[in-house]
Amino acid sequence: QKIAAITVPFDLGAGRRGASQGPKSIMQAGLIRSIQQMDLTIDSITDISLGEVTATAIDAEQDITNLNYLAEVIEINTRLSEQVSQAAQRGDFPLIIGGDHSIAIGTLAGLSSHYTNLGVIWIDAHSDLNTADTSPSGNIHGMSLAVSLGIGHPLLTNMKGLQPKLKPENIVLIGCRSLDEGEKKLIRSLGIKCFTMYDIDRKGMAHVMQEAIDYLKDRTDGLHVSYDVDSLDPNEAPGTGTAVNGGLHFREAHLAVEMLHEAGIVTSAEFVEVNPLLDVNNKTSQLAVGLISSLLGKQIL
Ligand code: ARG
Ligand code: MN
Ligand code: MN
Ligand code: MN
Repeated sequence: QKIAAITVPFDLGAGRRGASQGPKSIMQAGLIRSIQQMDLTIDSITDISLGEVTATAIDAEQDITNLNYLAEVIEINTRLSEQVSQAAQRGDFPLIIGGDHSIAIGTLAGLSSHYTNLGVIWIDAHSDLNTADTSPSGNIHGMSLAVSLGIGHPLLTNMKGLQPKLKPENIVLIGCRSLDEGEKKLIRSLGIKCFTMYDIDRKGMAHVMQEAIDYLKDRTDGLHVSYDVDSLDPNEAPGTGTAVNGGLHFREAHLAVEMLHEAGIVTSAEFVEVNPLLDVNNKTSQLAVGLISSLLGKQIL
């Protein structure tokens, strides 16, 4: 299968600048070389940049309280969704490199019409299930999963059609350790499967991943991996904007994607929230290259 790489140098969904330099830094850390060493073919590399943001669909009547850079987030994600949709249409494997996690809105909008039961593994310290009403920050990267469930501002949830892009029962959260009150309520009320850091400590990553894979494999016809590098412990991944202590270790983080590759059910992936401005010796960009390669099949032996 061919890989359609899509780079998204965008950071206005986050509270700090810098994730827009993620794609460049991950490329410089050797992503393409690493993929080619595995005899995989990269069909295309498409860069999605924010054009001139003119008067978008937002009119004066609409309430855009606590939605930072809404027009820009809509603009970039609309462009991204087109490219992701075209890649999926060609039968390619869409590999999206962010950028902050708000770009999951466009990725999932682009993927959703190609599947009837799209599954998502969301590996993240956070759940990104806020709305403008529950968000403590107004940063849209903390709302992208809610938006994909159809919960949030209509200008975001209606991208590429009115229907929700995901069903709550087709989502698995892995690595959570920083959840806002509204997010906890939503996880409980929708019954979203959630393996917190407690579960990972208690059962081990291998067990958690096996459960996640078994849970998703029969109910879904495609599986997207949305990998936020802040799922890792800040000692492993210092170059990220919303770091939270007590995260995944290096091997746990790799094991998750190694097992996903082995399961043979992954149809697309995105890696987000690498912020080179906060990084130490390119550690986080190099880590991202390792994680992406492992997901695509790189093995130790
Ligand atoms: N929950 C916090 C918020 O809504 C942090 C979200 C961080 N999200 C992320 N994709 N890094 O602002
Ligand atoms: Mn996230
Ligand atoms: Mn996060
Ligand atoms: Mn641990």
